[in-house]
Parts: sequence; structure tokens; C-alpha cells
Amino acid sequence: MNFKIIGTGSARPACVKTNDDLAEFLDTSDEWIRTRTGIEERHVMQDGESISQLATQAAQAALKNAGTDPKELDFIICSTIRGDYITPSMACIVARNLGVQCMAFDMNAACSGFIYALDCATGYFERGRAQKGLIVSAEAMSKMVDWQDRATCVLFGDAAGAVVLEKGENLLASKLASDGNVEVLNIPHVYGNSPFSSDEHKPSYLFMDGHGVYKFAVNAMATGLAETIAAAGLKQDEVDHVLPHQANMRIIQAAMKKLDIPEDRYRTNIAHYGNTSSACIPVLLDELNQAGMLKRGQILALTAFGGGLTTGAMVIRW
Ligand code: UT7
Repeated sequence: MNFKIIGTGSARPACVKTNDDLAEFLDTSDEWIRTRTGIEERHVMQDGESISQLATQAAQAALKNAGTDPKELDFIICSTIRGDYITPSMACIVARNLGVQCMAFDMNAACSGFIYALDCATGYFERGRAQKGLIVSAEAMSKMVDWQDRATCVLFGDAAGAVVLEKGENLLASKLASDGNVEVLNIPHVYGNSPFSSDEHKPSYLFMDGHGVYKFAVNAMATGLAETIAAAGLKQDEVDHVLPHQANMRIIQAAMKKLDIPEDRYRTNIAHYGNTSSACIPVLLDELNQAGMLKRGQILALTAFGGGLTTGAMVIRW
């Protein structure tokens, strides 16, 4: 016994910034960003918006799509690098906004977070602890990047995606892994003002060695997909939709070349969002669902990599 996805939802800030908008204050260009990454625009939170609000909107949309009353939920798991508070968790704020008191907690597996959360949720169904649950992946990347660093800030955006799960048999295989590494991708913590420490602290901005992550990402995505599809007892060309983490169109294309999955099965929306970390896959899933592209019984393969470094791949039947 594992899970079945019965509803999807997503939310994004109304404010959209194009590459040309960024070129107004950064030494960059639409041409550079488009050709190196495939990104054309991204959604960015503005004054008065919070990531918990966005997470709640995505959750409400998923619950509506599933025809599920929030009171039916047995758990809420949020994947996020950083919610509005260190504590309370984003999941507890979403629970409050939905008016429920079920178990609620956050997990951080960076960009692989949605796949990690789905895998974690499986345990509650297997142990008979849950009939229905909610996963929300929500990321405020615009609050973590250095807007003076053109090599990173142009890549990211803000969004939230959610799914409602119920007991089912639709998870066919999953594989999670980590390769502990602080050097290529990190966001230093916000520190307090202890009078007993004179350590210097770096500002809490995202640091990334783009080349280091790129190399890791192509192999991790291709290997993760190949192994997980085989573990599900399927051939690669039996996959109907591949939902890859949306970090860079070139990474997706390079991984694609290493696999036997026809090119027209890869789904992307990076042009309009950039990299929204763990929200990428559930937002894409919701867009495919709303567009009527997912047919009952079809095979979906999800694959992600991110800070940690973490990787996750999963094969599910729709
Ligand atoms: O989900 C989190 C994981 N993150 C990722 O997956 C990111 C993985 N890495 C990448 O996607 C790519 O490495 C980047 C998109 C970050 C960079 O692309 P690249 O083709 O590897 O460019 P580069 O770092 O080799 O930079 C080439 C040039 C440099 O100038 P010089 O040294 O050749 O004169 C950069 O300074 O491009 C310059 N550059 C830019 N120019 C205009 C870097 N960022 C920009 C920019 N606009 N925004």
C-alpha cells in the first residue's frame, strides 16, 4: 500500500519579471539568459506577500481539485528550503490557514524536496496511519539570492505546488540519495548576536558553483531516471511524461541524450518560472493536470537534484 495523487494545485506571485527587466539593473541580457538556461521570465514576491500564503493558496487549489475537505487530512508535509519562520514550520502555518490540527511538519531536501516528501508520505499510508494527506512544496528563492550576483539571481523564481494524496498503489519505484557537499551549493544561516562568539558570518545569500552543479546534475538525473524506471519493471520508452527539475534547459537536454525516452515526453515550464527549487515539479504537474494532458494509467517519471547535494527519482502511475 502506498499512495495515489487525487488532486493538484499551484500558486505563483502575480509579479512577473522578464530577462529584460533584470537587465535594467544587472550586467546581463535576455540573449545570455535565454541561450544559457532557457529562462525567459520568473515570478517574484513583492511587499505584503509571504511564502506561507502562496503555500496555502496552492494547498487550497489542490484540495478543491481533489474534492477533499481539509478536515479529512491526516498529515501536511511542506518541502521548503526556508519558510517565513525557522519556527513555526510552514506546514503548521498552512494547517492553521486551512483550519485543521493534523500532524504538520517541514522537510528540507532543497530542489529534490517534493520527491523526498512523496517518499516520506508513503510510510504513513503503509503503516495505516493515514487515509489522506497533503504535500506542499513552496519556495521564496527571491529572498535567498543575492540580487547583485548575475550568475545566480537570474536563475531563480518563487512558486508553490501541492498535491493531495490518498491510500493507493500508484507509486511504482523511487530512489533517493545524497552526496554531502557544502562547497558547490550553500546558503549560510542567519546568525544571532551571541556575546560569546566573535566568529564572522557570511551574509545569508545563495552561493553556487554553476559548473560543479551542472556536471553533477546531468549524471544524477540520467542515472536516477534509468535506475528508477528499471526498478519499476518498465522500459524507458514506456514512460509517458518525464517531469524533470527545472534548473536549466541545457541540463535537461543533456540528460535526455543519455536516455532512451523520446524527446516529446519531456515536460518543461522553465521559460516562465526559472528554478523554483522543490516547487518546480508540483507546479509543472499541476499545469499538465489542468491542461488535461495526464490520462489515467499513464506513467510519470520525476527526477530532481539540488543542494545537499540531494537527488530523487520516482515513477508513478497516474
Ligand atoms: O537547482 C539548483 C541547481 N542549480 C543548477 O542546476 C545550476 C547549474 N549550472 C548552470 O545551470 C550553469 O552553470 C549556469 C547557468 C549557472 C552558468 O552557465 P555557464 O554556461 O556554465 O556559464 P559560465 O558560468 O561558464 O559563465 C560564462 C560567462 C562568464 O563570463 P566570462 O568569465 O566568460 O567573461 C560569466 O561571468 O558568462 C558570464 N555570466 C553572465 N553573463 C551575462 C554569468 N552569468 C551571467 C549573466 N549574464 N546572468
